[in-house]
This record gives sequence, structure tokens and C-alpha cells, in this order.
Amino acid sequence: METLDWKPEYSVGHPAIDADHKGLFALVRELREADMSDGLLTSILGRLEAYAEGHFAREEAMMRAGGYPDLDEHMAKHRVFVEWLDSVKKTYHRAAESPFQVGEAVNDFLQRWLVEHILEEDMQYRDYVVKP
Ligand SMILES: [Fe+2]
Repeated sequence: METLDWKPEYSVGHPAIDADHKGLFALVRELREADMSDGLLTSILGRLEAYAEGHFAREEAMMRAGGYPDLDEHMAKHRVFVEWLDSVKKTYHRAAESPFQVGEAVNDFLQRWLVEHILEEDMQYRDYVVKP
């Protein structure tokens, strides 16, 4: 799968949320191009956790403020991400898989997330965006 870079046409019309999304695209590129190691994978999983905490809360608050009608369904997608990340960390901490294997699986999930979530599901709230 080709690694995507964030483009202006992917904007949801909200600077802070676009900045979050750009950061995730950059992280996926880093993950894809890196020589995987324990230190890097631990760093990436930590950054993904911080992303999920900060970004999903920001996006959900903005959707709520804008009266987005499909908020509950959207929040359920965010929960899928949080639960996935949790299970990845648990598996990795049990040392059941190598950093390389886990890095590949994380890369696959995130590539799909960029396309299916950011480029499709997030685009659906664009008309409800409340600018800061
Ligand atoms: Fe989202």
C-alpha cells in the first residue's frame, strides 16, 4: 500500500483538528520508513496513546458543539481505535511478538485508519464544523 501524505484537500476545515491529522499522517510515514526497534515502537505506541486522548476528545467536543447528528456512531469508531491500541500494547508487553511484527500490524491498521476514518468518516462532519 502506498504511504499517504496529508494534503490540503483532506482538510476538515478546523485548524487544530487538521494539525492532529497531519501529525498522524507523519507518524505513519515514520513508522513505515523506520528501522523498527523496541525503543521506536514503544515511542510510537506512546505517541498514539497521546494522539487518541487529545485528538478524539477535541474532535468529539467540536462535533457536539456543531450538533453533528452521527456523533454516537463516530465516537464508537474512536473507541474501536482505543481498544485496538490497548490490545496492541498488551500483546507487545507480554513480548508475544517482536517489535518488527507488531510494527507491521500497527502500520497496516493505521494505513486503513487514514483512508477509512480520516478520509471518509471524518469528512462527513465537515458541514458541522465549528471554527475556533
Ligand atoms: Fe474521528
